Amino acid sequence: MRDDVVEISYEEMDDLLKSLIVYEGTGALDQQCPMSDLGRVLSETPVVRWDMGVGLFSMADVVAAGNHPALVSTHPELGRTPGMGSREPLIPLHLDGDIHRKYRRLIDPIFAPRRVVAYEEGFRRLADETIDEFIADGRVEFYEHFAVPLPSKMFMQIFGAEEADREFFISCKNDILFTVGTTMEERDAVGVEVGDRMRARLQELIDKGRAGGGQGDDLIDTFLRWEVDGESLTDDDILNIMHLFVIAGLDTVTSSISLIVGWLAHNPEQRREVLKDPSMIPAVIEELLRFESPVPSGGPRWAIEDTEINGVPVKVGDMIYLCWASANLDPESFEDPQEVRFDREHNRHIAFAAGRHRCLGSHLARLELRVALEQWHSRVSDYWVDPEGNPEYVYNGVRGAEVMPLRFTTR
Ligand code: HEM
Repeated sequence: MRDDVVEISYEEMDDLLKSLIVYEGTGALDQQCPMSDLGRVLSETPVVRWDMGVGLFSMADVVAAGNHPALVSTHPELGRTPGMGSREPLIPLHLDGDIHRKYRRLIDPIFAPRRVVAYEEGFRRLADETIDEFIADGRVEFYEHFAVPLPSKMFMQIFGAEEADREFFISCKNDILFTVGTTMEERDAVGVEVGDRMRARLQELIDKGRAGGGQGDDLIDTFLRWEVDGESLTDDDILNIMHLFVIAGLDTVTSSISLIVGWLAHNPEQRREVLKDPSMIPAVIEELLRFESPVPSGGPRWAIEDTEINGVPVKVGDMIYLCWASANLDPESFEDPQEVRFDREHNRHIAFAAGRHRCLGSHLARLELRVALEQWHSRVSDYWVDPEGNPEYVYNGVRGAEVMPLRFTTR
């Protein structure tokens, strides 16, 4: 038994732990700068055992859990994971074992670095067009006019969906991820209804792809040609992949762009370095993904047998909470983790998770982020938070700067 496991009931938890582990809006977590709160939890309660299971906060424990064969990502009794707007397990996030490995082998190559590079030119055009819409104004609400539309335009392009679908998918994704309702069950029920509507439109796109012969380069046609164990994918399989892509691929990049530009807008010295030397952008992206952790924690995992994670005992049925954000601030893994340093060496952050369910869109995400930031910094000569505006940050399943009023000068 490890001597750093803190046993605590839900009632005894302080508001900070409640807001992290059970996503309760207690107001205890600093939404804009949660890093010192996360650092405190990591040093005071690196492992928490509470009524429902175990919460892990250090890099070593989170990585061990991400790779652990006895932890699965679908609720063993429900057979699905609540909160994603789906009645069925999504592929591949809610699969484990052999079947998960099979799907990853199929899907990973379409987002491999040498494949996604083909999108770069088109993405750059979309970024410029998006900037053209507001560049003459000298001010912009950056989240609404750049961080939200750009990744969805990029995504529609590779998806094979129509531009007219963009707003629809964005609103479905928002309604699923940010449903209102008091209990988890209420929120899940609303999310599933929205998910049904989204899937109906995705089914139409599959039907259209099939009617067109399914030979195109877009993702839907690619899925139509795929086989697992010699069998073509069913429409349900394709829907379960596409549903996850909409949920996983839009919000995350939007949030990352908003957090990175938000950080630079608040930090003039570092911003001017980047404006002077845009070749720093890839390092800026990695360091701010580490520091800001746009996806702060993993979906829950469940133990399917009594076992240990890095010496921490867990019981069958325990729910396991994994905090990527605190692991990214672990002093055992990063020198001066609370400092943002663009020349950091060995930045082995886990903003894209660790273990079997590590993000399969990370190369696409990095390309989208690089192109977005390169084009933004090539069009403006300086920018800063609008003194008349009020930036707003949120820390939910995904973290972001959801209101980011900027002023800027152009080149
Ligand atoms: C900066 C942007 C992104 C971040 C920070 C991010 C982060 C993550 C994280 C933390 C996970 C693990 C979730 C968990 O274990 O519960 C994940 C999984 C996943 N991500 Fe991303 N993601 C990003 C962009 C994307 C994009 C653009 C796609 C495109 C489709 C994508 C597709 C996926 C998929 C399919 C999974 C599930 C992988 C599996 O279960 O094997 N992500 N992502």
